[in-house]
Amino acid sequence: MKPLSRLAALLGAALLAGCSRWPGALSPMGEGSDRIARLFWLFTAVCAVVWLLVVLALAIGIARRRADRPDPLAEEPRRDRVAYRVVGTCVAATGVIVLALTGFSWWTGKSLAALDERPALTLKVTGNQWWWQVQYEDDQPSRVLTTANEIHIPVGEPVQIKLEATDVIHSFWVPELSGKQDLIPGRQNVLTLKADKPGRYRGQCAEFCGLQHAKMALLVIAEPRADFDAWRQVQLAPAAEPQGGEARKGRDVFQSRPCMMCHQIRGTTAGGRTGPELTHLASRKTIAAGALPMTRGALAAWIADPQAIKPGSNMPRVRLDADELNALVAYLEGLK
Ligand code: CUA
Repeated sequence: MKPLSRLAALLGAALLAGCSRWPGALSPMGEGSDRIARLFWLFTAVCAVVWLLVVLALAIGIARRRADRPDPLAEEPRRDRVAYRVVGTCVAATGVIVLALTGFSWWTGKSLAALDERPALTLKVTGNQWWWQVQYEDDQPSRVLTTANEIHIPVGEPVQIKLEATDVIHSFWVPELSGKQDLIPGRQNVLTLKADKPGRYRGQCAEFCGLQHAKMALLVIAEPRADFDAWRQVQLAPAAEPQGGEARKGRDVFQSRPCMMCHQIRGTTAGGRTGPELTHLASRKTIAAGALPMTRGALAAWIADPQAIKPGSNMPRVRLDADELNALVAYLEGLK
């Protein structure tokens, strides 16, 4: 592609991205992100006014200096006093503005922390290279639910998220719902999410964490309380029994190959914990932490050669013949 047509393609893509609803911190859809966006606009407005005033003063200074007499030592002492007063007022105004902005910033941080006080739900999200483990906490151990890369939350209720990491530092960021928060090995950080409207909100790891940092996305799905409860009930159930001969063969492939060493499918002998939990894999919208859509073709491509899609990831290439691959995909597709 010639440089000019490449530029045109880039511009076109940028325009298209502008048309669709791309997740951005400036289109807040939740209480936390709303407060952060307001703080951002306040800072932008104040800084813009200050910048304009400084440029204006500079322009006046340049214009007047030219018209003035060339020898500054010849100026009267009265003009010196005026200059001292102007500079002094500007320094004081700068101090007041910086202090006021610091105050607003502190107040926003405090009000974000106040969201945390009565969470309707507590989750633990663990960052891994390069996927997210999601665990719904509950007083009853049988209701603790583990899943991956997709978080369902009830609309309008504060959800507390405890953030941890197993390997390196990651950062949890769902721009439309909240600010960023780091996931640090050996430490727990807490963040509260609250969605005002039902919808799907894309999140992204926001701290460079290795080769596939860009392909470490997650999806937050906010839905009415009844839908959320129904989803959770379905997720708590063990995996669906495979329907049909091909899917049954696929389960045997899964349980006889290295797949089961890393992945858990509740209700089967597969109990690995190093990779994402797959009990209801097919109910998710994406696979490989947002790298591919949840379709039969994408599943087959991912299993056939994970290193072609996410080079460096921990998912190895398992040698399967075409029949085994088809059977495995048929089985995984049935894990609704
Ligand atoms: Cu995880 Cu970047």
